[in-house]
Amino acid sequence: MDVQVLSPYRANLAPIDFETQIESLPVHGVMPAELHGALFRNGPNPLHADPARHWFAGHGMVHRLAIADGRVSYANRWVRTQRWLNERAGDAANIASSGDGLSRTTPRQEPEDGVANTNVLAHAGRLLALEELHLPIELDGRTLGTKGAWNAEGALSGAFTAHPKLDPRTGELLFFSYGGADGLGAQMTAGSLDRHGRLASLTQFKAPYASMVHDFAATPNHLLFPVFPLTASAARAQAGLPAYAWEPSFGAYVGVLRREDAQKANADVRWFRAPTCFVFHVMNAWEENGLVHIDVMQSDTPSGFTWPDGQPIERTSGTRLCRWTIDPARSDARVASEALSDLTGEFPRIDDRMMGLRYRHGWFAAHGDDNDTLFSRIAHIDHAHPSRADVYALPDDDATSEPVFVPRSADAPEGDGWILAIVYRGQSERSDLLVFDAMQLSAGPIAIAELPHRIPNGFHGNWIDAHNHPIIRAPQPSSSQEF
Ligand SMILES: [Fe+2]
Repeated sequence: MDVQVLSPYRANLAPIDFETQIESLPVHGVMPAELHGALFRNGPNPLHADPARHWFAGHGMVHRLAIADGRVSYANRWVRTQRWLNERAGDAANIASSGDGLSRTTPRQEPEDGVANTNVLAHAGRLLALEELHLPIELDGRTLGTKGAWNAEGALSGAFTAHPKLDPRTGELLFFSYGGADGLGAQMTAGSLDRHGRLASLTQFKAPYASMVHDFAATPNHLLFPVFPLTASAARAQAGLPAYAWEPSFGAYVGVLRREDAQKANADVRWFRAPTCFVFHVMNAWEENGLVHIDVMQSDTPSGFTWPDGQPIERTSGTRLCRWTIDPARSDARVASEALSDLTGEFPRIDDRMMGLRYRHGWFAAHGDDNDTLFSRIAHIDHAHPSRADVYALPDDDATSEPVFVPRSADAPEGDGWILAIVYRGQSERSDLLVFDAMQLSAGPIAIAELPHRIPNGFHGNWIDAHNHPIIRAPQPSSSQEF
């Protein structure tokens, strides 16, 4: 893989080689008193640095920035999956195969054997590290220690998306899986876990073809499965070619499943043709007047992947926020796509209380106007006038990770709260936690917590509020579990 395309993020692609905890970080500005909880962030952090590695590869490392009474503490830990333990123990075979599913040439190993490197969130009183081809791994929110694979009392048997959706109306965690038995098939599942973590529904269906399915969308009445031609092929992998590759001739689809039909063992998913394009992440979806709308970060091709023969894909476009519209009553209709903003970027987030509902505010990590200074800005889109984004431009050489929204209070209006972003400082090779008024990004951060080291660029995370999540109440020093 050509990591050059990720420059200037390249300097922060390298892993860090330590675990630590810091009781109190220097804070500049005024940390809002209402912030009482912790930002958890996950990302790949290989035990063995390899400059040629793909960004997506490596064992998960979870970083926790806990905030209380205006003070900020920090801790980080690798997720101790079986692969991590094996590699740590010096198992050469596991070193060779560690890291990711991208270069997988053999069928998936044991269900719990993942790298848990993509997301971290709380559900049903559990802190879960997620990676889309394996079971969730449960962590201890206080120590960041690893409790092990979590299968919802035997209800889950394997792959579980790294992008489940918490339904704010029902408290259910909606999820899906793709890849089937070997991780490279067209079989998919969809289900839900109730607010207690018990399986409430599980159904299976088949996609038009086998591919990487990173994200999905949900509304009160529908589950929506965008499928793009980043195809998966066991035969290709066995021939030493990429397991996942770009084959646009397969076209793109959106699978539409009524949530009431998701109670059946075999789901009747209807597939709507979509523009041939690629999407890693959905911002949100909702229904109105019988139509389903999905806001996605859309590009012409998948960044960081190749053609089936392994040749790199030349970049043909940036990734832009687009709105898809589907009429579920007309199965012959194609998905219509409309660009909402000229900004390019990734890692879209919303006020999660609006998941699946008509919403107004979204945020994402934006690139520079030249589309080359990656993740150099943080953008707020007000869907009342989406072409006029509120943008904060980071200083030169800095780069943001996913901006996470935190409401001012449980009943605050949509968008009333803060944006938290972990920002890499290129000049000093450190990272900071930046806190913004979510409605005034361009005014700059209202508080900055300084880390003495950098947090490697990673993927996703979530704010977990101390008031309603006992898993992080009364933060304590890390246990004596040694790295
Ligand atoms: Fe993702």
